Amino acid sequence: MNKIYKAHILYTKDKAHFEVLENGYVAVGADGLVIGVAENLASLGADASQFCNKTPDVEVVDFGDKLLIPAMNDLHVHASQYRNQGIAMDLELMEWLQSYTFPEEMKYADTAYAERMYRRFVRDLWRVGTMRVCTFASIHTESTRLLMHLFQEAGIGALVGKVAMNRNCPEGLSEPVEKTVKGYESLIEETFHGTSLSPTPPYPPLVRTIITPRFIPSCTPEMLRACGELAAKYQLPVQSHLSENKDEIALVQELEGTWYGDAYNRYGLFGQTPTVMAHCVFTEGEEIELMKRNDVVAAHCPTSNLNVTTGIAPVRQFLDEGVRVGLGSDISGGHNLSIFQMMVYAIQLSKAYYQLHRERPYLTLSEAFWMATKSAGSFFGKVGSFEPGYEFDALVIDDSCLNHDHYSLLERLERYIYLGDDRQILHRFCRGKEIMETKILK
Ligand code: GUN
Ligand code: FE
Repeated sequence: MNKIYKAHILYTKDKAHFEVLENGYVAVGADGLVIGVAENLASLGADASQFCNKTPDVEVVDFGDKLLIPAMNDLHVHASQYRNQGIAMDLELMEWLQSYTFPEEMKYADTAYAERMYRRFVRDLWRVGTMRVCTFASIHTESTRLLMHLFQEAGIGALVGKVAMNRNCPEGLSEPVEKTVKGYESLIEETFHGTSLSPTPPYPPLVRTIITPRFIPSCTPEMLRACGELAAKYQLPVQSHLSENKDEIALVQELEGTWYGDAYNRYGLFGQTPTVMAHCVFTEGEEIELMKRNDVVAAHCPTSNLNVTTGIAPVRQFLDEGVRVGLGSDISGGHNLSIFQMMVYAIQLSKAYYQLHRERPYLTLSEAFWMATKSAGSFFGKVGSFEPGYEFDALVIDDSCLNHDHYSLLERLERYIYLGDDRQILHRFCRGKEIMETKILK
């Protein structure tokens, strides 16, 4: 049925400021797309009034004094590291991977273990209001398929990556190139032709495969080439890690004889299809230029930058220079799954960066919000805004427990971002459909 939602509506069309509609309305078609957003019913716009006339079958849902905002998008996280969330904080990247991360990911050969962990992961994403996620699974095809099914069952949008890796790791996490390609092809088959994950025209399927070479130190040239070929052949997006840590960057130079972004680019893994690269802490100069030219998206993971002590990504510079940026929780390098908290950490970290370098101003709230919603959402389609034509991904927030009597709507949102949690999220929508707490989400 077609719906009109009434609430205090806040969203960002651009990074510089919020759109704030006190007691506003957003009209959503039966196809899950926003038809119009306005301060009153009369001015919902030509499209929306047509829609009202055309379809007497319209339900108006009044959320009263609640806040209605776009749902959160997590551009970088590792589902198979969920058990390690909040532990193992004492090592830097390369040692951390070998000591804690790889041993945990090996457990996902066991689909029963994977199912237990992945159910928690999907449930908790739902809890924190993340309706789209770009996630690494593990090398294991069957566990990865299971994760795709769990997202599909939940109704949450996900790009799910079977991890490609075949060097500098324990034997149990290394997969021959041919086996990886076969595994991908069976997951790709699932994405486009499987019964349970069938596409929903006119959109792409809500849950899709994303080509996921772990990072260059983990993949031989043959593996990287195979990944690039898969992405090109099936026109699939790509995710990986880029310039996170100085030892890692030196190793890439040694292995590939060139700089990091250029190495991915040579294998067709740097914007030849839509690409997101996590971290980009030391990305500068030519690498920034290539990201811009190839429209590669950066996933900024502030808590991971802190925990794995990599350094601070130059996010302000990315924004100023027109590199697309979204936010990622990067569990378990990051410890917190909430993208609201990622906004807070991103702003705080940009202030630390400013104190160290004094070059460029720190991030504003609207910039952080825009990165979490419209900017990150663009990797999934028309997601992350309430402008007409956008998929209606939304959260309804009841912030009454935060004593909002004397605050403006924008201050209420700011206080929710800084002080709130999942208990204040009353409703969650993905692609127009309310995502209820079903069995899988309990
Ligand atoms: N680089 C390669 N693998 C990983 C990972 O699992 N986490 C982080 N933070 N960086 C990586
Ligand atoms: Fe990561």
